[in-house]
Amino acid sequence: MQQLIRGRVLGFHADPSETDDNHRYIEDGAILIEDGRILAVDEYTVLARPDLAEIDHRPHLIMPGFIDPHIHFPQVQVIASWGAQLLDWLNTYTFPEEARFADPDHATRMAGLFLDQLTAHGTTTGVAFCSVHATSAEALFSAAEARDMAMVAGKVMMDRNAPDSVLDTPQQGYDDSKRLLEKWHGRGRQRYAITPRFAITSTPGQMEATGALVREHPDCHVQTHLSENLEEIEFTLSLYPEARDYLDIYEKYGLLSDKLLLGHSIHLREREIARMAETGSRAVFCPTSNLFLGSGLFDEAGLRAAGIVSGIATDVGGGTSYSMLQTLNEGYKILQLRGQKLHPLQAFHWATRGNALALGMQDRIGTLEPGSDADLVVLDAGATDAMALRMERAEALAEELFILQIMGDDRAIAQVYVAGNPRKPAAQPRNGRQG
Ligand code: GUN
Ligand code: ZN
Repeated sequence: MQQLIRGRVLGFHADPSETDDNHRYIEDGAILIEDGRILAVDEYTVLARPDLAEIDHRPHLIMPGFIDPHIHFPQVQVIASWGAQLLDWLNTYTFPEEARFADPDHATRMAGLFLDQLTAHGTTTGVAFCSVHATSAEALFSAAEARDMAMVAGKVMMDRNAPDSVLDTPQQGYDDSKRLLEKWHGRGRQRYAITPRFAITSTPGQMEATGALVREHPDCHVQTHLSENLEEIEFTLSLYPEARDYLDIYEKYGLLSDKLLLGHSIHLREREIARMAETGSRAVFCPTSNLFLGSGLFDEAGLRAAGIVSGIATDVGGGTSYSMLQTLNEGYKILQLRGQKLHPLQAFHWATRGNALALGMQDRIGTLEPGSDADLVVLDAGATDAMALRMERAEALAEELFILQIMGDDRAIAQVYVAGNPRKPAAQPRNGRQG
């Protein structure tokens, strides 16, 4: 069945930091969808037909759903844990909590609640770390499949420097990952990400096994962490004394490619930056996490100038919000501290098409191109009284976007469509956009 979704429509077709011809905005626009796909985007008057079912979201803004390319599913009850930097935070809060995901009932309950949080915050695709237990990945994929939601996920592989309850072995990590991958990768909208947690929690033997998986499945994403925290880097290099630098560990085991997502990538050396650029490896900026854990300030402009493609992500539960709007807010402030600017058009491009590009999934998600999956977010820039008050003085689209970026959160998400299906009860429009 065809359906018409009406509103103020905004989608990106190029990167605003590269060209002025980067987006299409239609004041009275509409998106024609059928069977979970976008058929056409145009002026409402061009697409309207008497036989079409219509949903009218005016005066709200309709965009491609947000993509969160780095988030930890088993940390839904770790978010907001006090007082530690990375390694202490992992040992004190995170590993004990992830141990609970050995229980399939717990994993199943949390998977549903995790996906509810993503959709409530306007995120339609996540790239998720699961716990070490295959049950956690099973639970997440099953829940995502039931909602027809495009997830990229993998069970973490970790075989040292953590409690036994969250450790596997090189062989078990390989076998479990392989079995999950064969079952879930490419099934409906699900994709498997090979997931060595980071070099500290993997022995050289496990890194070997990871390299074998990557060679056998070059079309899978690989996700891990790189150079988040200075103490982490020092410990990592002490565990791999022959490595030239942190990235060299992943390089030695054959993990570098444009499928590799390197969470954080903050404290990088020149050689690492050059190798990431040469191999197409992606950096993933996690602003709320980097501030919360006191990790450091991501160098967006520096990595861009070197030719590295970056994503931007929440990193819940080191990150402190599921909201990509709040993530863009904190990202803006980090770049301010670096003397760099995050323009609202660049910000909203990043959370949609930019993250899709970082994943190499721009043919399916992140834009409003006909043929794309109908994953959409409907944004209300007047969602709170404070936002509505500020909106009274907003004149341009970029200004409205910036208000959403700085003041917005889940209250600004009026609706979310996942493969064409509405997933959030429509909020009553409050004070609409003025002017
Ligand atoms: N490095 C290794 N594991 C983690 C994690 O769970 N969160 C963050 N922020 N960094 C990590
Ligand atoms: Zn992380």
